[in-house]
Amino acid sequence: MPRDSSMVLSDATLQTPFAEAYRGLRANINFAAIGVGVRSILVTSGASGEGKSTTVANLAILLAHAGRRVIVVDADFRRPRLHRLFTTNGHLPHPQGVDAFWHRSEEGRPSAGLSGLIAGTATFAEVAAPVEGCDNMWLIPAGVIPSNPSELLGSPQTRALILDLRDRADVVLLDSPPCALYADALELTKATDGILYVLKSGPQGLVDHVRIVRQLQQGSARLLGIVMNQAETGAGRYGGYRGGGPVA
Ligand SMILES: Nc1ncnc2c1ncn2[C@@H]1O[C@H](COP(=O)(O)OP(=O)(O)OP(=O)(O)O)[C@@H](O)[C@H]1O
Ligand SMILES: [Mg+2]
Repeated sequence: MPRDSSMVLSDATLQTPFAEAYRGLRANINFAAIGVGVRSILVTSGASGEGKSTTVANLAILLAHAGRRVIVVDADFRRPRLHRLFTTNGHLPHPQGVDAFWHRSEEGRPSAGLSGLIAGTATFAEVAAPVEGCDNMWLIPAGVIPSNPSELLGSPQTRALILDLRDRADVVLLDSPPCALYADALELTKATDGILYVLKSGPQGLVDHVRIVRQLQQGSARLLGIVMNQAETGAGRYGGYRGGGPVA
């Protein structure tokens, strides 16, 4: 099975401990956040590979299955992956089909996407692909990689765009690069309502998660929770959830 697709739910009705863990996360988001006006949610982490993109994809699939209108935005200009996660798992047409919707750049990525929307060179209808099997869900890929991702994501144009996307959906979920390496996610907290911080369980290496979370909380976005990802349990590896509020 392709590495990128293996952890994305192929079906929102799966009855596995893995799917159940993401349902628990969805339940917390539903009641704790969306009900009180949190509609744009930034998913980030300290280090790379902690499970941000997987969390975004699975949470989006389950929220859409629960009847929410969901827009998924790949705001990770450093390692854009969402178009691949959804494509290889059967939710988007196969790579040849993707060409028909987005046209691809030389690197094989969709050439239209978030960067074009921010710049005003593309429209929502041109870049937001409906996700097959998930009614009311759209994916906006990263598009052309800008030379200055942090500045672009911190710009008033990005803020205006996310406000516009909020009006089109019940939930806007944004993937982002790791905070310990780039300022992109921190910039995006100016434009989003809430933050989900993904933490891969196990030895934490050199990343100071407490400092990073405190920094993320300095903006107006609310910390909705910490997703403890890849926790080892008797039932296998899956995500867990710890409610919002300060972690220190
Ligand atoms: N709950 C999980 N259980 C097992 N493996 C997982 C889980 N979540 C993610 N993974 C795997 O961990 C790897 C990294 O996941 P993912 O790409 O979602 O992380 P990321 O934080 O988006 O990484 P990056 O910083 O590179 O964007 C992938 O191979 C993915 O399949
Ligand atoms: Mg990722």
